[in-house]
Amino acid sequence: MTTTGAATHAFWLAGRQAEGTDTFDVTSPWDGATVGRVAVPTDAQVEEAVAAAAAAADAFSATPAHVRAAALDHVSKRIAERSEEIARLITAENGKPMKWSRGEVGRAVSVFRWAAEEARRFNSGEAQRLDTDAGGVGRLALTRRFGRGPVLGIAPFNFPLNLVAHKVAPAIAVGTPIILKPAPATPLSALLLGELLAETEGLPEGAWSVLPVANDKMPALVQDPRLPVISFTGSDTVGYQIMDSVPRKHITLELGGNAAAVVLADWSSEADLDWAATRIATFSNYQAGQSCISVQRVIADTAVFDALAEKIVAKVREQAVGDPGDDATDVGPLVSEAAAERVASWVDEAVAKGAKLLTGGTREGTSYAPTVLADLPADAVLATAEAFGPVLSLHRVNGADEAFAAVNDSRFGLQSGVFTHDLQLAFRAHRELEVGGVIIGDAPSYRADQMPYGGVKDSGTGREGVKYAMDDYTYERVLVLTGLDL
Ligand code: SIN
Repeated sequence: MTTTGAATHAFWLAGRQAEGTDTFDVTSPWDGATVGRVAVPTDAQVEEAVAAAAAAADAFSATPAHVRAAALDHVSKRIAERSEEIARLITAENGKPMKWSRGEVGRAVSVFRWAAEEARRFNSGEAQRLDTDAGGVGRLALTRRFGRGPVLGIAPFNFPLNLVAHKVAPAIAVGTPIILKPAPATPLSALLLGELLAETEGLPEGAWSVLPVANDKMPALVQDPRLPVISFTGSDTVGYQIMDSVPRKHITLELGGNAAAVVLADWSSEADLDWAATRIATFSNYQAGQSCISVQRVIADTAVFDALAEKIVAKVREQAVGDPGDDATDVGPLVSEAAAERVASWVDEAVAKGAKLLTGGTREGTSYAPTVLADLPADAVLATAEAFGPVLSLHRVNGADEAFAAVNDSRFGLQSGVFTHDLQLAFRAHRELEVGGVIIGDAPSYRADQMPYGGVKDSGTGREGVKYAMDDYTYERVLVLTGLDL
């Protein structure tokens, strides 16, 4: 392991830089090099940040829209200006290939820009006449949204910038303070975002903090009554532990999935199958499968199954595996050796139970080869768990009924892709699939950052997507005006 000898990265306490007494190192999943050393806040500093957030709530909510929008526009612009540097940082700490890091940076530019636009529109209010009954004559209801209180945002490692952006930008847009806790494996992108937030003007002290709090200190923060809103993205195990520990808080959980791509019988031309195979091969392996909506299951009609399977395997074999810093690389390492070992053990277990290995199935350190399985037995772990690795299983079905039932035969329900040209089947999929999003003609991994994003079943509760997170952080409060001459 090499070390850069880089200076310690301070964290952000109520908008200013601070250092604690401890530090930890962030290492590259690719080669183990030290990417940076990060300061850890002391208990007293965490307390200071929470107190500052609570104290800032009223002033922040009263901040004019143009101030919040200008701050968000500034961050969007600065991410764009520093995009290549930030992409390199994401790749260094997370191990995702540069092409995907650049994509993530572009998305964060858009999240902050959308948040600026939504901040300008937010809370104009909705008027309702109440003289629809005799008792309401001369009365008008005006409904506006107000913050639920400071937010504790807990971000995952797989999008170290953009899933932080999805928590922070909506909070600034509505004027509600946020304490952001980045993932221990990938805090550097969030800390760099803090630099850009610190350049803004007009946000009250305490409006935002970025605190790399150790995981074992989190239960106390989760319990803190001054943080009534928790927005968590990560594993279902941790998400539901949080929810069970504070059932009366307002909680948004963006959890896992085992997303399915359905290919129906009408998606059958050579061009159709090439497109489906390309998208499936790409999005089962992007970020080494470490996305909650990476393709884990292909559910294909028997009419197209054999031709599609052959194309998918060929396209998966074309994925360039290697150094994530290399522009040509498609698939980099997983976040840690333990993660790669877990994936390997699940694939080995499936094969031992009778699954057919069509390609892949090998591990080298933190990297796992893009893998395709067929005939996955129902009792294999991979049949029900979230793989969170570059592993795909192929399932043959007969008709849309069987296909949709197979999608729903999962404890998860995040997004699903359905390859069909039939508009009626598209609407039927929208009606029947128990997921938060249905993508027609593409992989389930498609996400535009302004769309509502979130799941049902064990995939979580609540929605992100800029405007939806803004709604989530706020609640409606009605003002009834009386004695009016309407
Ligand atoms: C996730 O892994 O849940 C986020 C996916 C995305 O933002 O594209």
